[in-house]
Amino acid sequence: MKNLLDSLGPVCAVIGAQWGDEGKGKIIDILAEHFDVIARACGGANAGHTIVVKGKKHVFHLLPAGSLHEGKPVILGSGMVIHLPTLLEEIRTLKEAGIDIVPRLLISEGAHIVLEYYKEIDGVMEEWRAKEKGGKIGTTKRGIGPAYMEKAARTGIRMGDLKRAFAGAAGDLKSMLRWKADIAQRQYGVTVDLDAEWDALKQAHDVIGGCIGPMTILFKLLHVDGKRILIEGAQATLLDLDHGTYPYVTSSQTTAAGALQGLGLPPRVLTSCIGVAKAYCTRVGEGTFATEETGKIGERLRERGGEYGATTGRPRRCGWLSLQDLVFSALINGFTHWNITKLDVLDEEGEIPVGIAPKEDGAMNYQKLAGWKASTKGMRSFKDLPPNARKYVEFIEERTHIPASFIGTGPGREDMIVR
Ligand code: IMP
Repeated sequence: MKNLLDSLGPVCAVIGAQWGDEGKGKIIDILAEHFDVIARACGGANAGHTIVVKGKKHVFHLLPAGSLHEGKPVILGSGMVIHLPTLLEEIRTLKEAGIDIVPRLLISEGAHIVLEYYKEIDGVMEEWRAKEKGGKIGTTKRGIGPAYMEKAARTGIRMGDLKRAFAGAAGDLKSMLRWKADIAQRQYGVTVDLDAEWDALKQAHDVIGGCIGPMTILFKLLHVDGKRILIEGAQATLLDLDHGTYPYVTSSQTTAAGALQGLGLPPRVLTSCIGVAKAYCTRVGEGTFATEETGKIGERLRERGGEYGATTGRPRRCGWLSLQDLVFSALINGFTHWNITKLDVLDEEGEIPVGIAPKEDGAMNYQKLAGWKASTKGMRSFKDLPPNARKYVEFIEERTHIPASFIGTGPGREDMIVR
């Protein structure tokens, strides 16, 4: 383990290789102990990971999964869009469990704020898509698209604006809000409750106003203080705005390059990049999914893998692993290691098809690998795995030329093979 951790170097990114929900939280939790700073770069409350605080399960959307590691600075980067009441709720949950994250929380002044009414616009746009564009995206309705639209239009409100507003420039922010409310009404028929929006901003400023600052802090932490930085990716590669299955994607950059951009870190500081992929595949929301199983097999994978969305509770679409997608994600991100998760979910399968490449008619060409029909649950050593389970992992390694250094064998923190 020590050699492996040393090989990750001072800046490591953990990136989802499929459509999200690969189980990034567990590897983050394991690695966070060995890094000094935990940073989240992009996305917003569309993400969701379950955190166990003092024996009680909570779903967190904004704070990174590594936040529980006491004493480590937690960074929310410029690429993020932050719904302030959600952030306050997460801070409160931690505080009730005796963890005060505020003194070690650093929020980029460039991160955008998701106002409450953005969620309504998100809903209105989904209705339009359903009626007039042939179908919805199936967004999380957390206002993510509208927040990034405002960012690209340069009409967004950023954390730095919040800080300035309560340091004496409230008038500017109030008039900006009025102008935006007018547009929301005229363009989307959404009525904005300006008083409620203002109250939410004020309440947030009271709690986290002191956390807002420039992202150059990361340079200091890395280069002056010699700290190791763990970058926690959100969503996943195939949902990337530029490289994913557009238009069925999220509105942010979900790749390693996107994460560096979101944190203001130069690409060459990245020393390792762990691609996280389920041993099979899932997707929430609409869009292509060539290896999807819509019948009994899909149901079986869903039940065995507990595949229901952490953010929306939606049943996830399930299917087989697509090698083609893994190769694509590995190339786009420059993965140095794999974390293959939930191998145990395949324990009962007699034969395991792996999608190799689509045929001309769009159907998938599969290579069928033999199943192992034995429990791998909780295994912690690669050599103890049934031979066919080892072959399955080795098949992924050989075809992608990337070592599977971490293999998940169950939901518990300890259920992980580290090679
Ligand atoms: P949005 O990010 O809410 O706009 O949703 C766009 C698409 O990304 C939808 O298909 C969502 O289901 C999907 N999505 C966004 N965030 C996540 C995530 O954290 N896990 C899985 N899917 C996500």
